[in-house]
Amino acid sequence: MAAAAISHLRRGAQRHAVLCISLSRRRFSSSSAVAAASPLAAAARRLLSTTVDSATSTSGEHYKPPSFDPFRAATLSPSALPLESPPSSPPLQDEAAASVAAHEQATLACQEVELEGLKAGVEAVKSREESPEEKEAWWLLSRAVVNYCGSAVGTVAANDPSTSQMLNYDQVFIRDFVPSAIAFLLKGESDIVKNFLLHTLQLQSWEKTVDCYSPGQGLMPASFKVRSVPLDGNSEAFEEVLDPDFGESAIGRVAPVDSGLWWIILLRAYGKITGDYALQERVDVQTGIRLILNLCLSDGFDMFPTLLVTDGSCMIDRRMGIHGHPLEIQALFYSALRCAREMIGVTDGSKNLIRAINNRLSALSFHIREYYWVDMKKINEIYRYKTEEYSHDAINKFNIYPEQIPSWLADWIPVKGGYLIGNLQPAHMDFRFFSLGNLWAIVSSLATQRQAEGILNLIEAKWDDIVANMPLKICYPALEYEEWRIITGSDPKNTPWSYHNGGSWPTLLWQFTLACIKMGRRDLARRAVEVAEKRLSDDKWPEYYDTRTGRFIGKQSRLYQTWTIAGYLSSKMLLDCPEIASILICDEDFELLEGCACSLNKNARTKCSRRAAKSQVLV
Ligand code: GLC
Repeated sequence: MAAAAISHLRRGAQRHAVLCISLSRRRFSSSSAVAAASPLAAAARRLLSTTVDSATSTSGEHYKPPSFDPFRAATLSPSALPLESPPSSPPLQDEAAASVAAHEQATLACQEVELEGLKAGVEAVKSREESPEEKEAWWLLSRAVVNYCGSAVGTVAANDPSTSQMLNYDQVFIRDFVPSAIAFLLKGESDIVKNFLLHTLQLQSWEKTVDCYSPGQGLMPASFKVRSVPLDGNSEAFEEVLDPDFGESAIGRVAPVDSGLWWIILLRAYGKITGDYALQERVDVQTGIRLILNLCLSDGFDMFPTLLVTDGSCMIDRRMGIHGHPLEIQALFYSALRCAREMIGVTDGSKNLIRAINNRLSALSFHIREYYWVDMKKINEIYRYKTEEYSHDAINKFNIYPEQIPSWLADWIPVKGGYLIGNLQPAHMDFRFFSLGNLWAIVSSLATQRQAEGILNLIEAKWDDIVANMPLKICYPALEYEEWRIITGSDPKNTPWSYHNGGSWPTLLWQFTLACIKMGRRDLARRAVEVAEKRLSDDKWPEYYDTRTGRFIGKQSRLYQTWTIAGYLSSKMLLDCPEIASILICDEDFELLEGCACSLNKNARTKCSRRAAKSQVLV
């Protein structure tokens, strides 16, 4: 009781901190307060991955595994180093610092050129002719804007006049706001995005009290709401407060692992398109990035480079059997690490963190590329797996029993193309196809070039299953019968081919568009947008569609769902000005595969995974 009261007070104190405050900088209490960021150093990394390859698509050949497999050497040991270096770290050598500075100057010049291009893109977007559907969508999007103390800070999840039961759809969800933010940024309206980034930063969790089910330090909320509360001792005067939800009051009580990852991805996009790099260089923003990364990179009991999470910790925020290492989280994690690495200022205090990021990136990409990828050939290999192998050289490392290959997959997997499976655990492969994870693996270059081509080839070959009457299926296929009963816990919202269980979600369209642009397959994205455009406005912009082919508006679907509206708008604008997609895309980082900063001994047990990752790209 007392503990609960204290927690309430603490939360109250936190809430107080976000009372109508200006966007003032956060104060730091610990000795790990960040030293002033080095703007030049961060700038040097921003240009590592900015180009949009518009003509790369060739045929999707089978992915070939590398000849050398460093599974056991997944570069885990460097994470044992403290992520924040002690203040007494020796300063950078003069010579090294001079060469870094020269490199940074050169990249700053490139950055200027890139910014010019993006500005021209935004001007082109502004002057394009909008269709009646787009005009309606813009009007609806502006109606969804939420104000706090006189400034726009986000958009509500849905604005559905047909229901009085809003549940938490009247809140600003972090993940839902991303397509709204992209739409606003492409239109040259960046203030709302800046306000959102800074206000959500104020809401970031600062302390953990396990006894009271509170979130860990660094967690970003799933959503927030602007509330009017009476001023102390005054029943007539009110003030506005921002009230975050970290999952403690959400259905299912799940921590939103994806929120912080999206926040980092959006922060980079904002900097690139506006040129306002000063925002990401602010001390409080740098600290916010580090808190998120510390939470993700800290050691646990896990042995894999993938992030271990509970069920429902992302867009699929209800029980759907995606606990463990779901692809969606891994793809967003990889993307956020890539984005953060470009933005973190290089100081003596951040060297260990940057090293940990680099090591995790190479281990993560190796692991996903090698063990999550399936195509005809790989499934045939799994089908013939030996089991119960005990040694470092085991081929069937996770002891997968071939009987696990579901009957639908043998007929479904196309000859050309493949995909990344939904989850990998000891003795368990979840063979379902999850759209967001696969698309974001393309956008972030977590997948190799060949794999990325293969994923789009598969979507094309399986168009009637994944797009059909409404893009895109959140996952394929649906869980049915006993599987549905056991895995979802008989969830009536997630019945087969509904909602998260094989429903079709129009918001996934913008991510599909991005992936298509990256791979030079705008033709596919255009086809999907045409399908969506035929129905969205007439159907009142639903949250999701049901049935195997997405024919019906979802059973419990909200109407006027903001991320449906914003996703459609972003797709249209991106398709007309594809070069702007670079604000969200990361290209393959050959430097990461080339250089090795992990300083591991190259013996049998601790080989560096970067070499293996490189061999995956070169085959
Ligand atoms: C549902 C979705 C979740 C989304 C929220 C608000 O809970 O599963 O991904 O963020 O609605 O739209």
